[in-house]
Amino acid sequence: MKRKPKYRFLLFLFFFFLLIHTLELHSQVRSKHGMVVSANRLASDVGIEIMKKGGNAIDAAVAVGFALAVVFPEAGNIGGGGYMIVRKADGTCAALDFREKAPRSALSDIFLDSAGNVTDRITRGCMSAGVPGTVAGLIQALDDYGTMKLKDVIEPAIILAKNGFEIDERLRSKLIEYENDLRPFPSTVKLFFKNDSLYQEGDTLKQSDLAATLIRIQSTGIDGFYKGETARLITDEMRRGGGLITEDDLAEYKPIIRKPLIGTYRGYDIITMPPSSSGGLCLIEIMNIIEKFNLDSLGYHTSQSVHIISEAMKCAYADRAEYMGDPDYVAIPVDRLISKEYASLYSAKIDPYYSTPSESIKARVVREHPNTTHYSVVDSSGNCVAVTYTLNDLFGSQVVVDGAGFFLNNEMDDFSSKPGVANSYGLTGGYANSIEPGKRPLSSMAPTIILKDGKPILILGARGGSRIITGVLQVILNVLDYRMDIENAVNAPRFHHQWIPDELIYEKDCFNSDVVLNLQERGYHTKEVISKIGALEIIYFDSDSGWIYGVPDFREGGVAVGY
Ligand code: DON
Repeated sequence: MKRKPKYRFLLFLFFFFLLIHTLELHSQVRSKHGMVVSANRLASDVGIEIMKKGGNAIDAAVAVGFALAVVFPEAGNIGGGGYMIVRKADGTCAALDFREKAPRSALSDIFLDSAGNVTDRITRGCMSAGVPGTVAGLIQALDDYGTMKLKDVIEPAIILAKNGFEIDERLRSKLIEYENDLRPFPSTVKLFFKNDSLYQEGDTLKQSDLAATLIRIQSTGIDGFYKGETARLITDEMRRGGGLITEDDLAEYKPIIRKPLIGTYRGYDIITMPPSSSGGLCLIEIMNIIEKFNLDSLGYHTSQSVHIISEAMKCAYADRAEYMGDPDYVAIPVDRLISKEYASLYSAKIDPYYSTPSESIKARVVREHPNTTHYSVVDSSGNCVAVTYTLNDLFGSQVVVDGAGFFLNNEMDDFSSKPGVANSYGLTGGYANSIEPGKRPLSSMAPTIILKDGKPILILGARGGSRIITGVLQVILNVLDYRMDIENAVNAPRFHHQWIPDELIYEKDCFNSDVVLNLQERGYHTKEVISKIGALEIIYFDSDSGWIYGVPDFREGGVAVGY
């Protein structure tokens, strides 16, 4: 009898942790009006508040982009770049490319030492930074598709930077993981360390330098970042750290409005990102190949369906390496790559049983890696926005611009620094993606909107480097072919093949052991990984009930907020 209270306490703990676990896995939210799904609750809240004040999805997306730069400093950014797909309620669509650019002085061999080896200056420090595109991109989106003033959509980010926010367990653990990498950079230490120790969970992180930068952007728009004081702070940092970005590089930066890439899949329309990202192109190419097979009848995660999907993945990644780069510098046969006829050439060659060794798939090279963030937004009128933007690695180049308070990207590592040499993501690259002055490095980001009968059913995108494409793909297949409910579709374990290395990687519990054995028998080099295969932030429209579902991927711990 005496021990009863202890048992009760243990029982309480058991149910408490069960509840936490359940909440973590079931963080989907539904609403009838608007929805924001992003990696961070404060940022999602900012987007919803903007819509409640009368802003549309684009106003909200711009506000979320600036807010993430404050509250999600490891990937949210103003020192990086990205892509946005907009589909307005009237059906018009646009693809905004605000990818970073190589500085003018960046030549193809700039990261090679005297022995011809690639140095780590391509991943760390000032030299790894491309000319940032985020601020110009967000402002362009607002000007072209928004309804509110910059002053108002940037204000919540300024308040968050000035007043600070509580460091959560997630940011604290990332800081611990990266402590040794961040320490060599005094301006970064100033931001995240107090008396030579990292901030603790629960501490308030105030970012007065970042607030001042945001205020400059608020008062003078693009010039507040690309000219004047902020430009001076960036170029001072470049001088101290041996970087390449000059005032001219900054003043010249322009985002590009492109025509979205449109594909079809079993009666659905896919609206996605064209190059300079490879994301949309690969996604459509893979889906075109898979469309030739009846996935549903092949079964879910059977060795045969995994074989077909993996073969399709390999073909697209081989083409990525061979053909894809910045379209301003290389001619990419886009129409051919996304044609159904081209997919037939590949599908006809897929062996019904055996894996095709990567070296026998005609192509050459590829590249990429992990941190980035995706967010999805819809408003009550049905305007949809999918944004993926990045610093490339977690904390980008790890350099904070002193006095300006933001991280610079290390996107130069998305270029192919030397043919055949793998970058930090284990991928290699070729001529199409070689470094040239002013060129955009090839990306895998794939912000995407899927329509059925002209109405949106999914807004999605992912982080995860080269795994973005295959992560986005599998969630789409789970919904369209396997008719899973959206939460299961997102949380189901995923696999990935990127042609080189010739390796089929998969998340824990993805396959039964007999499926793994069967895949090995077919010639696949299989490997279970603890890292994640993409992390998505999705909006799903249930046309029967009229509910809009916001689903953050449990892999990321993001937050959906609806109203
Ligand atoms: O543009 C790209 O494809 C990469 N820089 C993205 C990196 C990324 O997704 C890292 N996130 N986990």
